[in-house]
Amino acid sequence: MTAEGRTAAIVPAAGRGERLGPGAPKALRLLGGAPLLVHAVRALSASHAVGLIVLAVPADQIDEVRALLDEPGLATEIVIVAGGETRQESVSLALLALPDHIEVVLVHDAARPLVPAELVAAVAAAVHAGNPAVVPGMPLVDTIKRVDDEGHVVVTVDRDVLRAIQTPQGFNRRLLESAHARADGGLATDDAGLVEMAGERVLVISGHEEGFKVTRPIDLVLAEALLARRRAAGQVA
Ligand code: C5P
Repeated sequence: MTAEGRTAAIVPAAGRGERLGPGAPKALRLLGGAPLLVHAVRALSASHAVGLIVLAVPADQIDEVRALLDEPGLATEIVIVAGGETRQESVSLALLALPDHIEVVLVHDAARPLVPAELVAAVAAAVHAGNPAVVPGMPLVDTIKRVDDEGHVVVTVDRDVLRAIQTPQGFNRRLLESAHARADGGLATDDAGLVEMAGERVLVISGHEEGFKVTRPIDLVLAEALLARRRAAGQVA
């Protein structure tokens, strides 16, 4: 079986997205006329790195999401499951839906709709090359300071040794499953965090500025501008 056939992507898309303001669940907010999760699925499919995409969505939105993803051009097989209370639980539930032949799993936030297909492919390739856990990371642009409870600076941190971590994060499937099984209620903000807790080394490769997460209203403004630029350049329909 090809590397693509042995690789699946999990898309946690069951969050409410409260920091984005009132409205639909975040993954269903519109960007250039299509929900965020549809953009994320298109990017994963366009990478030709995954043969299957498992989406974890709010339980009452499974039918709606299935209808949204019924579009021509999405060659990748799609499975939709109900998500959980936390992102980590949503990923755990999606892992249960993977068929036996899947060996490599990418986990990609629906909230990163404009991730370049090349970055998806690079993460998958790095796992297939023998790295059990791979994440994209970006250098920090701001100066970073640790503060105390009263808001006074304790220390300025050396930002050169820090990275802001994006998705997709890629894993050997068994490693990710055991990291989730061992987590046992303890929460990490990403999947690599669980793998680190299990003592495994995580490789950071170069991320991409277009892989940013839509969290606050300003992020949607940026995403709309980027999508308009891609459309003007004829890169997307
Ligand atoms: O809230 P945050 O931006 O960290 O969410 C990251 C991703 O995790 C989003 O795509 C969101 O839909 C997903 N999520 C989830 N289940 C939850 C909470 C968040 O799938 N219970």
